[in-house]
Amino acid sequence: EKGGYDHFMLKEIYEQARSIRDCLRGRIYPAQGKIQLGGLQEYKEKLKMVDRIIIVACGTSWHAGLVGEYLIEEYGRVPVEVEYASEFRYRNPIITHKDIVIAISQSGETADTMAALEIAKERGATIFGICNVVGASIPRITDAGAYTHAGPEIGVASTKAFTAQVTVLTLIAFYIAQQRGTISQSKLIEFLTELDSIPALVERTLQCNNRVEEIAARFKDSNNCLFLGRGSSFPVALEGALKLKEISYVHAEGYPAAEMKHGPIALIDADMPVIFIATKNSSYEKVVSNIQEVKARGGRVIAIVTEGDTEVRDMAEYVIEIPQTDDAFVPLLATIPLQFLSYHIALMRGCNVDQPRNLAKSVTVE
Ligand code: F6R
Repeated sequence: EKGGYDHFMLKEIYEQARSIRDCLRGRIYPAQGKIQLGGLQEYKEKLKMVDRIIIVACGTSWHAGLVGEYLIEEYGRVPVEVEYASEFRYRNPIITHKDIVIAISQSGETADTMAALEIAKERGATIFGICNVVGASIPRITDAGAYTHAGPEIGVASTKAFTAQVTVLTLIAFYIAQQRGTISQSKLIEFLTELDSIPALVERTLQCNNRVEEIAARFKDSNNCLFLGRGSSFPVALEGALKLKEISYVHAEGYPAAEMKHGPIALIDADMPVIFIATKNSSYEKVVSNIQEVKARGGRVIAIVTEGDTEVRDMAEYVIEIPQTDDAFVPLLATIPLQFLSYHIALMRGCNVDQPRNLAKSVTVE
């Protein structure tokens, strides 16, 4: 049942080339610059005119929502708010019939996310779902949605479900951009062509496993860890920190790299591993200077970099290379080494990788 892998988590990490391919299947036609999202078809006009989108979710799905915010705002130019479902539901949120509220949930059963959607529905919003489990409670109450098609996820830590959620959000962002005319058809063709190649790039990224295992061995005894990134790599940093916390029981925090100097920099010493997402994209130079700040304080830097990078290689203690891709798709690749890192550290610390203490796969109580 684990397909030859020691744990479901490892199997599910390795499934990501396939799960992303399944998620894209029948939905993109790069040569024609066409995106087909069956469920959203009817809401084309609504998406064209909408002036605010609210995303509600919990945990890892909330991190996917943050990536979605970057993508939808950048390409579709619609303001997006991303809310913890548990906070949203209890603070008398301002919602009108003009809003679109999107719930993201692997299980489709999370109590807080479900309740947040019910409130949004009561107040007249259009409600969408991005879920993995077909026929679950959330997809049953939504007006429309898109399944992630990642296949069953057994490991408690969400891995392939996260990258599939991000894939669907990427499709939605470009779909909105096309409806609103905020992207040219030629640019869209370029993006979809690149998106079509992501499963192959994921396949290549998965080859970093041995390298990550070596690095994990060096840091397995650390009791703290910082994850830093900018732009859409900031939610990737949050996700890396959550994975490490939940399966290795190592205290970890994710931060936007620039926020470091507003507090967390005080934590940095020779015992503090700092993991940077430092790929070659629009925030590269800024991240490089944040790496220098950590180095100057004796912190130990591990960096996820773009293949062929030399600048960060010279500064960091360890680098993990991932293939070059457009800014829009970096989260899909950069997440993978962080999944491996938490997996190996958990294993080396003797933790139960697939069933971490105190956690359940689906949180059906608030
Ligand atoms: C983390 C994890 C949880 C879930 C959260 C939401 O690895 O699995 O943080 O992401 O409980 O669950 P869903 O997506 O089923 O609503």
